Amino acid sequence: MRKWRSKKWQRRMALRLDYNYMMSDFIGVKHGIEEKDLAGLGEISGRVHLALKEKREKGRIGFFDLPYDRETAAKITAFAKPALKRFENVVILGIGGSCLGARALHTALAGGWWANLAGRKARGRIPRFFFADNVDPEGFSRLMNAAAPKKTLYLAISKSGTTAETMSQFLIVHKLLEKEVGRKKVAEHLVVLTDAQQGRLRNIVDREGLTDFIIPDNVGGRFSVFTPVGLLPAALMGIDLELLLAGAAAMDQRTCREDFLSNPAYLAAALLFLADRTRGKYVTVMMSYSDALWDVADWFRQLWAESLGKKLSTSGNAVFTGLTPAKALGVTDQHSQTQLYMEGPFDKVLVFLAVESFACRVPIPALYPELPDVHYLGGHTMEQLFTAERLATEYALAQADRPSFTITLPEVNPFTVGQLLYLLEVQTAFAGGLYNINPFDQPGVELGKHYTYGLMGRSGYDGKREEFENRQPKKDKYFL
Ligand code: PA5
Repeated sequence: MRKWRSKKWQRRMALRLDYNYMMSDFIGVKHGIEEKDLAGLGEISGRVHLALKEKREKGRIGFFDLPYDRETAAKITAFAKPALKRFENVVILGIGGSCLGARALHTALAGGWWANLAGRKARGRIPRFFFADNVDPEGFSRLMNAAAPKKTLYLAISKSGTTAETMSQFLIVHKLLEKEVGRKKVAEHLVVLTDAQQGRLRNIVDREGLTDFIIPDNVGGRFSVFTPVGLLPAALMGIDLELLLAGAAAMDQRTCREDFLSNPAYLAAALLFLADRTRGKYVTVMMSYSDALWDVADWFRQLWAESLGKKLSTSGNAVFTGLTPAKALGVTDQHSQTQLYMEGPFDKVLVFLAVESFACRVPIPALYPELPDVHYLGGHTMEQLFTAERLATEYALAQADRPSFTITLPEVNPFTVGQLLYLLEVQTAFAGGLYNINPFDQPGVELGKHYTYGLMGRSGYDGKREEFENRQPKKDKYFL
């Protein structure tokens, strides 16, 4: 029996949510949530729960059921097994929700950019991973030079197939492969992840016979980490997909509960919603006390911002909602951001990511007995110092009446990371319901895209280019 099948191991690996420092008992009524505030959400939370449940059952929101799609996981594993042996590098061509989940998984579970520096054996015989989620010509050129095409597998990930950044990268890579490996072998190096029917990439896949994986229609980009968008890269990183999905499924057992006080995702959303609406705290700082979880905070930043930042309510009224996400790294940012968090405006909630047990123990040697201010560190471990710094920061913030809560992972492994990502997705979906907005669309991103299309000469967007050009500010005013 594999260890994750044991109920005992799963119970030991369950994520914990400690929200004491959100509550008025610890930080006072002015900044802390009272139990009666939470009780007051009972009715709306019941309504939001039922609406989400119905949409899940009708298949309108697809991310909820992804942990149970073992067929896709098996298909991905079968593809990845020989590929991860064959290729020295994997390059992800994608942006936003089509990239950030894979990067979070790589940093959390496959060694992150450190792994790219190590030799193949030290990396556990997995390829090096690169994420081309920008079109800065210098950055992209450096990346292209770092990965020799003959030894590289490129994953072009775009649900729509029209994203200018990803499609420009795709065109460049396609041409490069034609030159470097020959037209006939392009398909061996280029895999496409896109929508089943729509999208320009689907058209190209069918014409050129490229290997492809489907991004389900009912799953939006930023909720797609448990589709092939996250799972294919994960498999190529050597991550145990079964364990990752088992973690997500275990969290689903907790986050499908109607009672929001015993549902960690609903409760986290409710706390952040109340802190905003009743105490004016509209900034959510996710502070990871784990290098491995740093890019989870980055992934969450997109999920939270793009899902909740909305002009219109579901009934079409202008509401201009949103919680501004920020990310911070413990302890690094204690020497950069904590001064602001302690003494600046009372506009933030800190969400700490904590790890209980680290994979290695680093003892600190007891040197320089004649220097007591340095010597006291000796005999401890770095893990003890790291944990003490987190506990001290959480406590100090509470002393300054700054609300925070902590999500603790017993250790960083695919099962706990699967739980964490799923938790944050449900938290976001539920928060959207509390704010009465649609967390699954992103109309505000479209306008900028349309002007870009106009400037780049895409047909049908001439009007946008003309409008842009005619309304440019005069350079003799407000200009240095
Ligand atoms: O969350 C989202 O929907 C977005 O961030 C998209 O993932 C991003 O814009 C990329 O879109 P696409 O996958 O269509 O290229």
